[in-house]
Amino acid sequence: MFRTNTCGELRLSDAGRTVTLAGWVQRVRKMGGMTFLDLRDRYGITQVVFESSDNEALNEAANRLGREYVVQVTGTVAERTAKNPHLPTGDIEIIARELRVLNPSEVPPFTIEDDTDGGDDLRMRYRYLDLRRAPVRRNLELRHRMTMEVRRYLDSKGFLEIETPMLVGSTPEGARDFVVPSRMNPGQFYALPQSPQTLKQLLMVSGMDRYFQIVKCFRDEDLRADRQPEFTQIDCEMSFIEQNDVIELFEGMAKHLFKTIRGIELTEPFIRMPWADAMKYYGSDKPDLRFDMKFVELMDVLKGYGFSVFDNAEYIGGIVAKGAAHYTRKQLDALTEYVKRPQIGAKGLVYARVGEDGTVKSSVDKFYTQDILRAMADKMGAEAGDLILIISGDDTMRARKQLCELRLEMGRQLGLRDKDKFACLWVVDFPMFEWSDEEQRLMAMHHPFTHPKDEDIPMLDTDPAAVRADAYDMVINGVEVGGGSIRIHNADLQAKMFEILGFTPEKAQEQFGFLMNAFKYGAPPHGGLAYGLDRWVSLFAGLDSIRDCIAFPKNNSGRDVMLDAPAPLDQKQLDELNLAVELPEA
Ligand code: AMO
Repeated sequence: MFRTNTCGELRLSDAGRTVTLAGWVQRVRKMGGMTFLDLRDRYGITQVVFESSDNEALNEAANRLGREYVVQVTGTVAERTAKNPHLPTGDIEIIARELRVLNPSEVPPFTIEDDTDGGDDLRMRYRYLDLRRAPVRRNLELRHRMTMEVRRYLDSKGFLEIETPMLVGSTPEGARDFVVPSRMNPGQFYALPQSPQTLKQLLMVSGMDRYFQIVKCFRDEDLRADRQPEFTQIDCEMSFIEQNDVIELFEGMAKHLFKTIRGIELTEPFIRMPWADAMKYYGSDKPDLRFDMKFVELMDVLKGYGFSVFDNAEYIGGIVAKGAAHYTRKQLDALTEYVKRPQIGAKGLVYARVGEDGTVKSSVDKFYTQDILRAMADKMGAEAGDLILIISGDDTMRARKQLCELRLEMGRQLGLRDKDKFACLWVVDFPMFEWSDEEQRLMAMHHPFTHPKDEDIPMLDTDPAAVRADAYDMVINGVEVGGGSIRIHNADLQAKMFEILGFTPEKAQEQFGFLMNAFKYGAPPHGGLAYGLDRWVSLFAGLDSIRDCIAFPKNNSGRDVMLDAPAPLDQKQLDELNLAVELPEA
């Protein structure tokens, strides 16, 4: 037998047994006549002792071991004199009798410890070594357990796991496509799926009824901490359902994951917040509800007193930071600088402190009487010791987004965004369309297959911008962890939607003919959702970036620095594909 046990499982009850372990050398320490080896594998670390009085040659061999050598050790399990309460195996050690070097190792480019000294780039370049570190490994283990629970839950609800192709046609769905040239079809390209959206709808036409897939999706878009160019969706679709059925089933899945993975029992139904409220009260379609700090509109209270910034503003909104009246001038200046950063773009910040005696002192005192400031504080529910922060602007949506950034930053500064606390909600009733300045036309906010709310269908002709969709997102702690919608299953309504989105009938037929044709053969009412697996795992693991729960992620420029991809193709390959590369001059 190669090994009798792993490096994580031996306990005091094993004392006296002869065992064989195999693993990597974490470190070697020489103390007097003894050599201590920490042997590591996926399961843990076990201490091995070599006693020179026992076997001089063996002890010397142990002393020659370097970090990350792969070794096999046979010996006897013994109780340790100096126990290590931090290790599950800390009560025992192995008194070595045999040592076999299975493979030596060069000195690794960074030490493989929980807190490593390797920088980000180095860790990514040698990701296979990084993955030996327990914190990274634990993220992959968590990911595995989550996908197991997802499968268990969906199987119990009668879902079929069905694979869809990775080489598909290009269907614009928001982001840019990654494309793949076809050698057998010169000059033609596949696209990698941004999601299996249309394919899962076709499976509904096929009568598959309840489908899911844990599936890679590809989007060529700008990267952020919660975005990778290839990421994994838990993609689901159901037939003969209404919005509420989908929401309840997938809320059930969320609760199942919380319970089985985090041991948290969520008994209350998740809040369902209309998109318009989310924007009005939190300035975001993914509000972080771990803390309140709801926006209060102050146009009626503060306009018309000669303070031109407010007098000319379309929007004036404030938040109350509870108990933060102690914020110093310096801290407030820093907050002002924060909201003025180009990424946020606010023109400034007005603040007011509510004193212990109830008087309100603001940065714009000269324009407002104490009565007005008091009325403002009352409207906001601000009490003694609270800090009021106000942002205004001539574009309501933009000003709300700025106030949203400020709210999140204040939540962070006041320690209200605890990673072990979870606030889940559904954002519902999204607008059907949003205006694109870049394209100068209406675009589908979710995607072009989303069903408008029945009561809003008449407005498709008169006021499309006001039409709401049967679309919903699940949001946890300010992260969009999933989204979906009820779909259009009627070919005429789908054609109308393409028309509003600016497709000519020919263009719609060319790009989506396969779907519209399928709808002619008895498409059932259907809808679904996709969860972002990477985001779920990161949330449960408390990670700042989804990269850390992906075995081999891309960096912020979309590169895999370990594989050195993407890279140029050699001429032969280009020729076979009939491709010519022409780069713009630098
Ligand atoms: P959507 O585009 O909202 O919907 O994607 C669903 C979920 O996938 C996650 N996600 C991402 N995760 C990491 N990196 C990315 N680049 C990325 N983009 C999206 C998010 C998001 O909520 N076909 C529809 C779903 C449907 O309607 O059924 C779709 O793809 O958590």
